[in-house]
Amino acid sequence: MNAEAEKSRLPPGEAPTQRLFFALWPSEEVRSGLAEVMASLHVRCAKPVPAENLHITLLFLGSVTTQTRTCAEAIAEGIAGHPFELSLDQIGLWPQSGILWLGARELPESLAALARDLRHGIAGCGIDLDARPFKPHVTLLRKALLVRRERPLGAVAWHVDDFVLVESKTTRDDSHYQVLTSWRLGADSRGAQGGLRGSSACP
Ligand code: 2AM
Repeated sequence: MNAEAEKSRLPPGEAPTQRLFFALWPSEEVRSGLAEVMASLHVRCAKPVPAENLHITLLFLGSVTTQTRTCAEAIAEGIAGHPFELSLDQIGLWPQSGILWLGARELPESLAALARDLRHGIAGCGIDLDARPFKPHVTLLRKALLVRRERPLGAVAWHVDDFVLVESKTTRDDSHYQVLTSWRLGADSRGAQGGLRGSSACP
């Protein structure tokens, strides 16, 4: 459905919204490491997250208007940040939600700073943000009742050099995520999507 058609389905006077979140989006290599972890689990009663949906949420914005999205993208554009190494070496289960997650024992300072800077900046866009502390994790399973590991967990190494804004579309049974925009981490490539970079050093 195009934007105009979608707009015409809204009650009069209501602005269209998108459900958005900032995330770290895995490369194919990281994604296959995550798939290996999934395959090492012996699970009863659980809903696995489809491989293409695996990610780490940096900040959940919820349903926002185009104006708020523009504000959030401007904040993201202004974040310099630094690339970092993330070692996903910890697995856990939040019993209330049945979420089986993969996380990092050690939180890289650059990741903490990225999440903090996004939160501080985007608070100024007028969004009511979730107050829970940032606990970076990849959700592997939902509604899990019982999980056993077939073998010891091998850490998944992730070189993170960008972050993304994602739209979430939820149907009754599924969530579909679409990456809308990405930003490279690193002062010299700030805000660049598909930026150009020479291979030689400065004279
Ligand atoms: P989760 O993986 O731990 O469930 C898209 O919904 C992403 O945003 C999911 O990764 C989800 O985290 C995260 N998220 C954080 N806060 C949320 C909220 N209040 N509602 C829905 N998703 C939320």
